[in-house]
Amino acid sequence: MTRKLFVTTALPYANAAFHIGHMMEYIQADIWVRFQRMQAEGDGLREVHFVGADDTHGTPIMIAAEKEGITPQEFVAKIAAGRPQYLDGFHIAFDNWYSTDSPENVELSQGIYRKLREAGLIQTKTVDRFFDPVKGMFLADRNIKGECPKCHAKDQYGDNCEVCGAAYQPTDLINPYSVFTNATPILKPSEQYFFKLSDPRCFEFLRDWLNTPGRLQPEMVNKVSEWLGEAGEKLADWDISRDAPYFGIPIPDAPNKYFYVWLDAPVGYLASLKNYCGKKGIDYDALLADPGTEQIHFIGKDIVSFHLLFWPAMLEFAKHPTIDRMKVAVHGHLTVNNEKMSKSRGTGISPLRYLNLGMNPEWLRYYLAYKLNSRVEDLDFTGDDFVARVNSDLIGKFVNIASRCAGFIAKKFDGKLASSVSASSQEWIKKALVAEDGSERQASIAANFESREFGKALREIMEIADVANRFVDENKPWVLAKDESKVAELHDVCTTALILFRQLTILLSPVLPGVAANVRTFLNDAAYTWADTSVANGAAWQPMLGRTIGAYSHLMTRVDAKMIEDLFDAPAQQAAAVAAPAAAAVEAAPALDGEPHAASAAGDIEELSPEISIDDFTKIDLRIAKIVNCEHVEGAGKLLRLTLDVGEGRYRNVFSGIKSMYKPEDLVGKLTVMVANLAPRKMKFGVSEGMVLAASAKDEKANPGIYVLNPWPGAEPGMRVR
Ligand code: MSP
Ligand code: ZN
Repeated sequence: MTRKLFVTTALPYANAAFHIGHMMEYIQADIWVRFQRMQAEGDGLREVHFVGADDTHGTPIMIAAEKEGITPQEFVAKIAAGRPQYLDGFHIAFDNWYSTDSPENVELSQGIYRKLREAGLIQTKTVDRFFDPVKGMFLADRNIKGECPKCHAKDQYGDNCEVCGAAYQPTDLINPYSVFTNATPILKPSEQYFFKLSDPRCFEFLRDWLNTPGRLQPEMVNKVSEWLGEAGEKLADWDISRDAPYFGIPIPDAPNKYFYVWLDAPVGYLASLKNYCGKKGIDYDALLADPGTEQIHFIGKDIVSFHLLFWPAMLEFAKHPTIDRMKVAVHGHLTVNNEKMSKSRGTGISPLRYLNLGMNPEWLRYYLAYKLNSRVEDLDFTGDDFVARVNSDLIGKFVNIASRCAGFIAKKFDGKLASSVSASSQEWIKKALVAEDGSERQASIAANFESREFGKALREIMEIADVANRFVDENKPWVLAKDESKVAELHDVCTTALILFRQLTILLSPVLPGVAANVRTFLNDAAYTWADTSVANGAAWQPMLGRTIGAYSHLMTRVDAKMIEDLFDAPAQQAAAVAAPAAAAVEAAPALDGEPHAASAAGDIEELSPEISIDDFTKIDLRIAKIVNCEHVEGAGKLLRLTLDVGEGRYRNVFSGIKSMYKPEDLVGKLTVMVANLAPRKMKFGVSEGMVLAASAKDEKANPGIYVLNPWPGAEPGMRVR
């Protein structure tokens, strides 16, 4: 049977640019796809359809658009326009990039829903939902905060506590408030639509589906089996509806109800495929019905429940043809310097910054591939490790072979390779490409790519490179080149080295597609397929014999460790910005030794306010805020408009009367302190959602300055000041 592959990566939320964790997922999937595309199938190459899309629906995107004064459609279009520079920049070759806000997705999502309803798996229940009486809307879990019912941490989201990890309903929160208006939400009955995951059919299906050998990683089978319970008793019905206003897909026959974003998001995989099929003239239904078609989703460990419970159950009971041929490949998370990256803070390495520094995208592809295996393990990007790995393997072992031998072919042999290689060189070729047990190394490398053991595959490729380098070191072409009588030997050695170099390139080409393309030009080669690595039929060397090759030009440079410093310079800059006032404080230090400082030069200090209790103080929620944007407000003499990130996964708009002291560009990127639970205030120019703290003198005439607070390095957006 001819294998056909329908491959996806998780659909990223269309509320932010990609971070390096997204790139890791795409690089993993892209390597796997490129490997598959090199496999012969029938009389051609394997058919692979690799699609992605933006996940556009839901409350956060609706709110973000509203804040910018644009429609959600305009907002997600802006995000979509930013995607290609990342994808192209890192050689991620999706066949199609689409959107969940699309006609195909409406049709497919509603179609699946109707089939689930026909199967008796949709049920309505009236439940009490939190409603913001000021904003006049039902509140999503993440739009409600309050005290954790378990550990009593303050300001936890409505679905789970970031401090103790407890999961609960928003109605369980103590002192809940709306994050939009701070109003206390009221309970309002609302009819909701549920997918009946508790139906015994779902349990029976999921148990068998999860336990099908080869479908999932064993650790995932174990984890998800726990969620089912012994007999499915742990499976709860899933609320798939949200009340208007909501940016989403209307539920058929249910006025003012929309699908919860996680219902239509995975359907977006199918929507992107269908859209792509339409563009390419491929029969979508026939492709999915084809018994050779496999559906493979690459996802991160944080979204497993959606992909291993809800999504397969939806597909099964909507009679989706590939459900029995669906696999989910789960990866761990990328950390940077052993720190967790935060979606809301956007920490980690900016992929664009990486590219803008002139860093080679294939360094990152190689480094991540080297660290990847088939298990659900986190992997870490560490600067030193990155420099060492790339320089030692890619430059020291791989590129080095060509750079040491290609010049002689050009100079001494008019660019022509030898038309045969000596018996001893043939021995070396075998030593490099054939394992001790007589099997071809390309076969085990292929098995490792297939099973996503990329690190193992690359280590084995580097073993081939080690043999090739030993061959060059022992035969010393640079010595042979000095002796006219050794010209045939020189030709033989350089030809053999380039044969091995070409093999390494082919084996590495899923990981290094750009380098492979340049090597092809250099060697006058056709597109590489896995068959070109076969030792048994001679494909691994015969095509090179007697061939005229092009001029060698540099394939890859070393990583300069200085680049890594620049990659991480964001915290360093912040430190410098704070260092200046800190240094000034040191100069003023004598005041500490002498009399306590009295502000008398500028008049008396302001009289202290009446004493308060610690409880009074804790009512004021002070937070570290990052000023992500700052601009003048037209028509306002004193105000600047600040866009603040307080780690909430959304931005706040705050007006501050500090225009006399600061230019917008002075403030962008700086951290400050804000009152985060102040009731929003409607001003002439818009709503101000909080207040930034600044110091000023009692006597404004003597000292008219307003000094914005700036925390010491290490503080991060969202941290509470107490
Ligand atoms: N929109 C949902 C997915 C819907 S799929 C139908 C979502 N989006 S996301 O943008 O938050 O994440 C997209 C993917 O990136 C997920 O697979 C997630 O696991 C992955 N990653 C997010 N942070 C990551 C790392 N730090 N490291 C590796 N992958 C990471 O979830
Ligand atoms: Zn808690």
